[in-house]
Amino acid sequence: MASNQFLTLNSGHKMPIIGLGTWQAPDSEVEAAIDVALEAGYRHIDTAPVYLNEKAIGRALKRWLDSGKVKREELFIVTKLPTAANRARDVESTLKKSLADLQLDYVDIYLIHSPVTAEANEDGSLKFDADGLMVPDLSADITTTWTAMEKLVSSGLAKSVGVSNFDQEQLERVLKVAKIPPATNQIEHHVYLQQRDLVNFCKAKGIVITAYSPLGSKGLIKVNASAGINRKLPDLFDIPEVKEIAAAHGKSPAQVLLRWIVDNGIVIIPKSTNPERLKQNLNVFDFKLTPEEIAKLSTLDQNFRVCDWSLLRGVQRHPEYRF
Ligand SMILES: NC(=O)c1ccc[n+]([C@@H]2O[C@H](COP(=O)([O-])OP(=O)(O)OC[C@H]3O[C@@H](n4cnc5c(N)ncnc54)[C@H](OP(=O)(O)O)[C@@H]3O)[C@@H](O)[C@H]2O)c1
Repeated sequence: MASNQFLTLNSGHKMPIIGLGTWQAPDSEVEAAIDVALEAGYRHIDTAPVYLNEKAIGRALKRWLDSGKVKREELFIVTKLPTAANRARDVESTLKKSLADLQLDYVDIYLIHSPVTAEANEDGSLKFDADGLMVPDLSADITTTWTAMEKLVSSGLAKSVGVSNFDQEQLERVLKVAKIPPATNQIEHHVYLQQRDLVNFCKAKGIVITAYSPLGSKGLIKVNASAGINRKLPDLFDIPEVKEIAAAHGKSPAQVLLRWIVDNGIVIIPKSTNPERLKQNLNVFDFKLTPEEIAKLSTLDQNFRVCDWSLLRGVQRHPEYRF
């Protein structure tokens, strides 16, 4: 089993520093991927209702838990409050729906997926207007949603609570009302989008950063193309400095990109449904980057956001959208 390490959250709970991302992991692939991941030593799984795979993940988890091969307390399961339900009155019922799909009694951390709130149809799906644009819900407020999130901890439905895609100002507003501070802020973070000010702010406040798209979200290229979004995305595996450092250690560019992040005390959730790549992404502790290599990778920042949420048409009309 590959080694995994932990960070202690401000809630006192331990979070495995490497988790498995599952966005763009369809049912047909994700159940088998969870099996391979748990076998390889992953214990942290990141999902969300909008990834449409909670049921398949739940099936795999139930098999593992029923077989006794893993205990619930060894797992760290993350899911998120969707944009269409990002309001106080929807928090508990939305988490309960995720828990039913995941076949779990609690999640290890529940995150507000984004500071943006959209109006929802009766079935809970996002409401779009006649032009196909998301309809912003301006009545919701992230601080009242946060207060509802805190109640999940006392009711035992979530061990910890946190946020995702929040900037410093949004975090400051939440911290002002919080009885329980967010345990993590899950943000895009990789060599081309380092967000150092936000990372330093979160560290100073005891909020662990979880880096999403740590490999640059290559799969997004295809998704964007099928949605008609013509945006050139960088290939982080092809950066000469990354390739050179990888060759020097006999590791892959992906492993170098991931090791650089965890060395900075940041949690990573690379997505893969490929057995070899998924194992590779967990196997990043058997080499060490030199201070010079770390410094070289740190100079690569381009402030380039890969996940700009443009797939969610109309999101830019919401005042909490800051990308
Ligand atoms: N909170 C948010 O708003 C938010 C936004 C985006 C993502 N996330 C979370 O963060 C997770 C990770 O981000 P992401 O999925 O955007 O992108 P990512 O993890 O940076 O990259 C995933 C892509 O890289 C490929 N890949 C994985 N390991 C590889 C390796 N070792 N070598 C070569 N290619 C490799 C994967 O393909 P294969 O599967 O074919 O290996 C997939 O196409 C998501 O899955 C999701 O759980 C959260």
